[in-house]
Amino acid sequence: MVPEDEEEKNQRPMCARRRARILIAMIEVKGLTKTFGEMKAVDDLTFTVKPGMVTGFLGPNGAGKSTTMRMILGLDRPTSGTALIGGTPYAQLKEPLRTVGALLDAKWVHPNRSARAHLQWMAASNNIPKSRVDEVLHLVGLTEVAGKKAGGFSLGMSQRLGLAATLLGDPQVLLFDEPVNGLDPEGIVWIRKFMQRLAAEGRTVLVSSHLLSEMAQTAEHLVVIGRGRLIADTTVTDFVAKSSESTVRVRSPQLDALRSALTSKGLTVREDGIDGQPSLLVVGSTTDAIGDIAGAQSIVLHELADQRGSLEEAFMKLTGEDVQYQGDTGDDVMRGGL
Ligand SMILES: Nc1ncnc2c1ncn2[C@@H]1O[C@H](COP(=O)(O)OP(=O)(O)OP(=O)(O)O)[C@@H](O)[C@H]1O
Ligand SMILES: [Mg+2]
Repeated sequence: MVPEDEEEKNQRPMCARRRARILIAMIEVKGLTKTFGEMKAVDDLTFTVKPGMVTGFLGPNGAGKSTTMRMILGLDRPTSGTALIGGTPYAQLKEPLRTVGALLDAKWVHPNRSARAHLQWMAASNNIPKSRVDEVLHLVGLTEVAGKKAGGFSLGMSQRLGLAATLLGDPQVLLFDEPVNGLDPEGIVWIRKFMQRLAAEGRTVLVSSHLLSEMAQTAEHLVVIGRGRLIADTTVTDFVAKSSESTVRVRSPQLDALRSALTSKGLTVREDGIDGQPSLLVVGSTTDAIGDIAGAQSIVLHELADQRGSLEEAFMKLTGEDVQYQGDTGDDVMRGGL
């Protein structure tokens, strides 16, 4: 058995190394603001992105996601505030490609270059060994088409090539701006799993999207913005639990009696109905409590079901007023994008 103080000694450097790795991989945004003319595209944003999990950067169109990512990557200059990666602004990173990989626009490749030539050019200009090119091509499943012109690639293949480029320097921090936009379901699942794998390897993964349902399946943590402002910085689970109302749907052939029984217990009840079948939605109660109330008065129930708040509902509720471009059917426009 290892003596206790020996054990402690062995563990100490491990912890210090781990802490250092976490600090190196953190993205820290503080008071970040960007104005274009009169318009505040990003408005005093403060959040931290941690390693080891996928963080979803969520917001409706025009919320300021891309602008924020561009500032993190030193492509846009903040009007005020800071964006640091491992405590350093991107522009001051010694070996940026070995620290941060970013995919902002997958179509940014020379159309006449082959996938391999594109990556070799990037590797050479960043002092990365040529052998890494075939490694990353293999990682993203493009080995077989590595010699083909990138200009002829489908969107899915271009996304994979973009991912390969982000991985060239084996960076700890990865940023992806709407990586699943326009992809077919198979491509979406592939990218989702890929990101989760990168996070499971201990990397920091920030991925932007306006696709709520997609983020719910991909991310563990969410940074939600609307009109450039922070709306939520929380886990996916908490976001849904805190933001959406939980209700119980109840159907009965004795709806009037049931309504009276429930309201007499102080419960809030709303009329509802699906497919012409009238029902009640009871706010802030449980199926057990409602079943007991109905049972006590011998009221027959035909349905008693928890209505768990969806991520979409939570998002709509929170960002509804922060949608920049909203037509008359704002809700429908938003839902179309979800
Ligand atoms: N270079 C620019 N000049 C002027 N306005 C800009 C510029 N870049 C962005 N904007 C504006 O800033 C706001 C935020 O844009 P941004 O592209 O960051 O949003 P987004 O959340 O990425 O949206 P989307 O989901 O559509 O990609 C928008 O109103 C946009 O029109
Ligand atoms: Mg964008």
